[in-house]
Amino acid sequence: MGLTLADDVLGRGLALVQREIDSAFDAILPVPEDSRARLVEAMRYAVIGGGKRVRPLLVVTVAEMYGANRSGAIRAACALEAIHVYSLIHDDLPCMDDDDLRHGKPTAHKAFDEATAVLAGDSLHALAFELLADERVSADPFIRSELVLTLATASGHKGMAGGQMMDIAAETEEFDLHTVTRLQQLKTGALLMAAVEMGAILGKLPDEGRGHLRNYARDIGLAFQIADDLLDHEGDQELAGKALRKDEEQGKATFVSLMGAEAARAQAHALSEQAIGHLAQHGKEADLLRALARFVVERDR
Ligand code: IPE
Ligand code: IPE
Ligand code: MG
Ligand code: MG
Ligand code: MG
Repeated sequence: MGLTLADDVLGRGLALVQREIDSAFDAILPVPEDSRARLVEAMRYAVIGGGKRVRPLLVVTVAEMYGANRSGAIRAACALEAIHVYSLIHDDLPCMDDDDLRHGKPTAHKAFDEATAVLAGDSLHALAFELLADERVSADPFIRSELVLTLATASGHKGMAGGQMMDIAAETEEFDLHTVTRLQQLKTGALLMAAVEMGAILGKLPDEGRGHLRNYARDIGLAFQIADDLLDHEGDQELAGKALRKDEEQGKATFVSLMGAEAARAQAHALSEQAIGHLAQHGKEADLLRALARFVVERDR
């Protein structure tokens, strides 16, 4: 296994996006000089300097494949990452997964307190749509509104939050493979699908031209969560920077619990290859997407 950051194309692509996202959030989130300072400090703590930034890399790569400018794409990517990070802050709360470690440091509610963590999540959620409605994403209001619609749909009950609800049910209800697939498509897949879709929107790619990208996103989305479940099952906590061995402890139905680790790994690799197959019409410009499809299943964090 091992982190495929040694892969040059991907290593450089991720490192660049990580720097750009960090410096964008640094500029977007100045700390106010009143008692909201604690809230903004908690937002900055969660959103700056951690995370692989897989979703931002997808937004920016697809946007640039279709000629969109990078600075607008970075702002759209910050919006999506704000939703992702808010979902992690809330996911780690005692009422959900009750975790103390995220990105190798104390979770937001541990570093601050629960009320501040809830409000930091709420504020990142709102910030996402503030960013997308701003002209700096795109001068075209139709593009901005399509971005808002796409991210809103992927975030709420039809997407990530809906998947989180099903994930809680997976601890007590009997879930079959079909239902776990649906759960994971919502919990994790929806935001990864939104990443690719937002890139296509910024690149003004017409709806009928997006099919292959949606297929790619669907396959890596599922592969990504199978890899997360495998990490939980057998990963190195030190490298992952978060608590592992939680799913089994909570009796949660996952691909690993239903299929076993070996079959789950084979399924993740098959999905990754299938995702790459959907990019056949592209040349070198899609190499980063191909490398990312391999990375999501080989990652150790
Ligand atoms: C973790 O997502 C939570 C899931 C949706 C599986 P990531 O693995 O993308 O988290 P970071 O942001 O890189 O830490
Ligand atoms: C979290 O899934 C998914 C979201 C936050 C939407 P997990 O609970 O499996 O993620 P980790 O393992 O804590 O990162
Ligand atoms: Mg969870
Ligand atoms: Mg969790
Ligand atoms: Mg997990």
